[in-house]
Amino acid sequence: MERRRWLLLLAVLACLFGCSAGRELRFKHKIHNHSPVYNHTLATILVRYASTVYLSDLTELFSWTCDECNGLIKDFQMIELIVDIQHCLQAYVGVATDPNAIIIAFRGTQEHSIQNWIEDLFWKQLDIDYPGMPDAMVHHGFYSAYHNTTIRPGILNAVARAKEFYGDIGIIVTGHSMGGAMASFCALDLRVNQKENNVQVMTFGQPRIGNAIFATYYSKLVPKSIRITNGNDVVPHLPPYYTHFPQKTYHHFPREVWLYNIGLGSLVYKVEKICDASGEDPTCSRSVKGNSISDHLVYFGVDLMAKTWRPCKIVMGPGLLEHGRTDLEGNFVLSRDLATPVLKLKTRPDARGKPL
Ligand SMILES: *[C@@H]1O[C@H](CO)[C@@H](O)[C@H](O)[C@H]1NC(C)=O
Ligand SMILES: *[C@@H]1O[C@H](CO)[C@@H](O)[C@H](O)[C@H]1NC(C)=O
Repeated sequence: MERRRWLLLLAVLACLFGCSAGRELRFKHKIHNHSPVYNHTLATILVRYASTVYLSDLTELFSWTCDECNGLIKDFQMIELIVDIQHCLQAYVGVATDPNAIIIAFRGTQEHSIQNWIEDLFWKQLDIDYPGMPDAMVHHGFYSAYHNTTIRPGILNAVARAKEFYGDIGIIVTGHSMGGAMASFCALDLRVNQKENNVQVMTFGQPRIGNAIFATYYSKLVPKSIRITNGNDVVPHLPPYYTHFPQKTYHHFPREVWLYNIGLGSLVYKVEKICDASGEDPTCSRSVKGNSISDHLVYFGVDLMAKTWRPCKIVMGPGLLEHGRTDLEGNFVLSRDLATPVLKLKTRPDARGKPL
């Protein structure tokens, strides 16, 4: 009798799994309370913003007519597109209806091959003090990619204009890879220096950016931060975490959400694990080797990479060009006048610094 019950249960389970094989089963583990709310739907939307910012066709991107711009994220208005050609950086600011927020997205690296960039990450030093936070150290290259290029003034200006026009709506900052590192510095800047109270962060496959003391400050100041990692993605493992040198080592800020697959025979189930408040949960991505580049380039089924790896290059239609000039270094900002939808090209003459 008991045995038959078990068999029946097994049959039901097998059918459940079998019947839903086409669908996605998601298990959510909660380890600690007080985690910032992780919203799967929001993640699948934001990953597409983090993806579109890689586009090198600025006409498509600025007018939001790219193939990737449709669907989930169609209710979006671009406000400013910032291109720092000197440092090969790209970011944009716009407003969306769902989530109802100002969206800021940063592009990851495009300068040379992804392999080279990842190899370099092994050697990044904690080489600069974060201003105003005693003993907090960060990597100078990531810090200055945001703070010491045309990117920061472009972003802050666009955020101010968006708030003038749309009122005091929340801000969501996102980015993939190095774009995630820049997104983190941007969110902290908005919180600390611009006194923004409603800043949310979601990054995809970002590297470590600072030490444990920095991570502590960061998570207090920007508690609504989610750092999504994927399977064996190598980048979240870098720069390396050295357990034996707690004062010298990099340390992720919380909260990680680790995506991984559980295989049951031919069936594969996707798991989204909400990790602990330490930032370095040993049962999340740190529980695996983390040696995959391909896991770095696709999150939630969305490609996150430049279509071609080549020296920083952009494509711009004559519609944008005729409005524009560039500064000596060739950096520029495409701005939308919010009251009248006419494209206006502005230059930012203050590019300096050499990040990375
Ligand atoms: C999750 O995010 C989506 C997209 O922004 C939103 O529509 C939904 O209401 C959110 N769910 C919760 C529980 O906040
Ligand atoms: C910013 O760039 C300038 C010019 O390259 C440099 O002198 C300065 O030290 C940089 N500042 C930081 C914080 O990196």
